[in-house]
Amino acid sequence: MLSLLVGLDHSMHTLATIVRPMPLWVELIQDIAYLVAAVLFIFGIKQLSSPRTARRGNMTAGVGMLLAIVATLYIQNAMSLVWIITGMIVGAAVGAVLAIRIQMTAMPQLVALFNGFGGLASVLVVGSEYLRRSDDITLPITFDQGLTMGLSVLVGCVTFTGSMVAYGKLQGLIAGRPRQWSGQLIGNALMFGLSVIASFWIGMDNTAGWTLLVIAALSSVLGVTLTIAIGGADMPVMVALLNSYSGIAACATGFILDPPNKALIVSGALVGASGIILTSIMCKAMNRSLANVLFGGVGTDDSTGAAGQQHDDRPVRTVDAEELAMMLDGVRKVIIVPGYGMAVAQAQHAVRDLYHLLEKAGTEVYFGIHPVAGRMPGHMNVLLAEVDIPYDRLLDLDQCNPEFETAEIAMVIGANDVVNPAARHDKSSPIYGMPILNVDKAQTVIVCKRSLAAGYAGVENELFIAPNTLMFFGDAKKSIGDLSKALTEQ
Ligand code: TAP
Repeated sequence: MLSLLVGLDHSMHTLATIVRPMPLWVELIQDIAYLVAAVLFIFGIKQLSSPRTARRGNMTAGVGMLLAIVATLYIQNAMSLVWIITGMIVGAAVGAVLAIRIQMTAMPQLVALFNGFGGLASVLVVGSEYLRRSDDITLPITFDQGLTMGLSVLVGCVTFTGSMVAYGKLQGLIAGRPRQWSGQLIGNALMFGLSVIASFWIGMDNTAGWTLLVIAALSSVLGVTLTIAIGGADMPVMVALLNSYSGIAACATGFILDPPNKALIVSGALVGASGIILTSIMCKAMNRSLANVLFGGVGTDDSTGAAGQQHDDRPVRTVDAEELAMMLDGVRKVIIVPGYGMAVAQAQHAVRDLYHLLEKAGTEVYFGIHPVAGRMPGHMNVLLAEVDIPYDRLLDLDQCNPEFETAEIAMVIGANDVVNPAARHDKSSPIYGMPILNVDKAQTVIVCKRSLAAGYAGVENELFIAPNTLMFFGDAKKSIGDLSKALTEQ
């Protein structure tokens, strides 16, 4: 990364020295750099869509961002090379420490923090641009620029305070329970409406800088009241939505700069669009509308969404590690369905060991990945990629469902809602209509979890009492470890 930075900087420095006396050339080079950066962002996002290329996608988009930063700060001669490199080293160090230390299960709150700071950055840029231009009569603020400044502060502040509340709920610092009160919706609509009116005001009278402060105050409260009304377990959807907002704020900010910053406009638009697409995918996979997530007040006090213990007196058949090891002997095809419990137990390494043992014994092993298994998009993919499960073993919902009919064993590890057959037929169930992995179609279903407790949706799972199901009770990491031990010893 550093050599890339130094290399890029060297060439940029040379170019900048040559072109500084020719502003048109400077502009041209900057435009080319922005165009290349935009192409890299788009390729990066494309690569992120498959686990096989996702790491490369991150790198590609990162290089695009580096190019955009250098093109903005250095070519435009905004600050010295020393400052740019110092800023990058400090930022990269903080990012690296966070990335290394963060637990996989805490990823949604880290993303919430990133979004929040993105929104705040947009607000600060708008503030400084307003102050710069209100002092400079050669750069008058037009109506559309004033309006955009107001809207950018509105979206940026909602993103910042909303993301901080999301972080607090996910981290357990604030109760996860949705907080709703009468008149909340009207209050939110009022704050939003007043902020929009104030944005028009500054558009019409660009000396009215105080309106930006009013918008900032109203929208900061709005961010809190909007997000606090959402249950902790729905927070990942809200985080995706806030991610989209942070992109919209950045995009709007790109327009009000003089000259407009094309990299900010393009990257903001990409983040805004991809965030909203992700939000819609998550809602669809949960069979919920966005309105239901935002205003439905679904959830418990637990930010994990686990609905607590339910009656454990249902008649279930159980199996232990030794019996299960015997059952697995000579089996031709096993499909493992991981869920949130695997993430909580950090059982992915134990699952990887089991996978190797079964493959060594000649069993075909596949992993059925539900799009909303766990608590964040791609949660299971990331955990399984971390332990090097080959990508061709991961089957998505549509690929996996036809396979269950020919599988001797479907092994559910810490998943619950995403395999609940009630989603197919029980119209009264809150998860009715949600596409599920049809594990009950396998010859035998093994469910590894600690109890009969419900999952995120808080509904009982009839799979546990199905005639072809055996409950393998215990913590996923320990149970799967015991199973591997029994397989090795038999
Ligand atoms: P859940 O339905 O939440 O069930 C997880 C199960 O894991 C629990 O029933 C729990 O049962 C078990 N568990 C917890 N700790 C465990 C441990 N240490 N060892 C073994 N098992 C453990 O999970 P799911 O099937 O993955 O479904 C995800 C849910 O989250 C869906 O309802 C989805 O709509 C929702 N959701 C997902 C997302 C995204 S993007 N993924 C976003 C928002 C909401 P025990 O307590 O009995 O062990």
